[in-house]
Amino acid sequence: MRFSCLSPKAYLLGALVGLARFVFADCECGYSVNPTDERDHTLFTDILESDFTTLKDIRADKDWVLQEWKIDKSVSRGPYGRMTVPGNAISNPAKDLAVSDEGVLGREAGLELYVRKLQPGDQYVSIVEADSYRADMIYGSFRAGIKTTGISGTCGAFFWYLNDTQEIDIEFLSSQLNDTTSPVNLVLHSSLSKGGDASGTPTFKVIQLPFEADKAVHEYRFDWQPHRVSFYADGQWLTDMTEEEYIPSVPGKIILSHWSNGNKLWSGGPPIEDAFMLVQYVKAYFNTSSEERMKDYAVRCKNSSASNAICEVPDQNGPPIFGGNDPSQRPYFFSQDASKNKTVNQTYGKVESTNKNAATPLLAISGYAVLTMAILLAAILEVM
Ligand SMILES: *[C@@H]1O[C@H](CO)[C@@H](O)[C@H](O)[C@H]1NC(C)=O
Ligand SMILES: *[C@@H]1O[C@H](CO)[C@@H](O)[C@H](O)[C@H]1NC(C)=O
Ligand SMILES: *[C@@H]1O[C@H](CO)[C@@H](O)[C@H](O)[C@H]1NC(C)=O
Ligand SMILES: *[C@@H]1O[C@H](CO)[C@@H](O)[C@H](O)[C@H]1NC(C)=O
Ligand SMILES: *[C@@H]1O[C@H](CO)[C@@H](O)[C@H](O)[C@H]1NC(C)=O
Ligand SMILES: *[C@@H]1O[C@H](CO)[C@@H](O)[C@H](O)[C@H]1NC(C)=O
Repeated sequence: MRFSCLSPKAYLLGALVGLARFVFADCECGYSVNPTDERDHTLFTDILESDFTTLKDIRADKDWVLQEWKIDKSVSRGPYGRMTVPGNAISNPAKDLAVSDEGVLGREAGLELYVRKLQPGDQYVSIVEADSYRADMIYGSFRAGIKTTGISGTCGAFFWYLNDTQEIDIEFLSSQLNDTTSPVNLVLHSSLSKGGDASGTPTFKVIQLPFEADKAVHEYRFDWQPHRVSFYADGQWLTDMTEEEYIPSVPGKIILSHWSNGNKLWSGGPPIEDAFMLVQYVKAYFNTSSEERMKDYAVRCKNSSASNAICEVPDQNGPPIFGGNDPSQRPYFFSQDASKNKTVNQTYGKVESTNKNAATPLLAISGYAVLTMAILLAAILEVM
């Protein structure tokens, strides 16, 4: 009789242990891109998403490091030196995204990256650069919502970087923009391109965009894999670079920058008035070179064939539009998913935000949390 039924204590304990064994978080085995392409359907283990339309202050964001350096004109390779100034990055969070994407400072919400006009006697152009804190990114799909400046004389860039010979660039030269042309410069720098000059290599391409890059926010994306780097705008494929000897194969970081050195052959300028590039978001799905993060993945990913263990990264379809009633053009963020269950054990996003969903992407209950709870409860029950 003693064993005919479980005591409430044993029953509760069994239920908790069962729960601990079977609770997974979504996406724990990674994020995949190109689901319809056999050869390129690939998986990335780590994720970084920054929604600058809700971020109060970039300075509080541990995922980004605002640069503070100064190089003189000989190093800068132009008539002027360059000086990165953290104050040239201005956060302009949305007042109320349910209504529109208007920021608290007016204009469209997002992160404004300024190149300042030259003051008399200046030797250095006052510019801005934000680098990802993570510098262990090796292969990935990198996306940013950007509106370039229409003021001539700057270079706006979204790129992956290790050093001057290991670099993947998307660059906008505002001097190249006019009513009839809107080019984007796509470059892989490699040790084969001497002195950082990639012109004349197969991995420097100028692509005409089907829209004016300075009139609205568009999503620019590059997918970096060992055999290919593919570039996209608003989810539409632009071009591939497949020369494997030019494709980086080492870990690095991603960078947002807006700069000028007055060099007529590239940035032009400096601009005659303060010019800003607007960045509304960055999303990165990538693999890591960090031993610790690889170990975390091995523990986190219990069964990659379990449902929801791998999450497809949705493609942006057309220009991203924040705010208002139509959510179809709004970029998707795993970190803002209502389930709060899609970025467990990821490192990013521990920042204050005006968006309640985005504020606490790491609060989802992971298997470990539940297991800890079960052990704790078991201990409590033991003394009952
Ligand atoms: C998280 O996702 C897993 C797997 O899809 C699901 O079983 C679990 O109930 C979810 N947990 C929460 C807290 O939503
Ligand atoms: C990224 O890492 C995952 C897990 O180790 C692996 O399955 C995938 O093939 C890697 N992706 C690339 C592009 O190397
Ligand atoms: C860049 O890094 C690569 C890989 O570590 C190295 O081989 C190369 O010499 C470096 N280039 C420069 C200019 O430092
Ligand atoms: C726009 O720029 C292109 C390329 O620099 C040039 O050929 C064209 O004449 C310019 N158009 C106008 C209207 O300025
Ligand atoms: C992994 O998940 C699949 C699909 O749910 C299931 O068929 C398989 O038995 C699981 N494997 C393990 C080792 O739990
Ligand atoms: C991820 O989980 C591991 C336990 O497997 C833990 O040691 C690590 O701190 C976690 N990392 C984050 C960022 O939550």
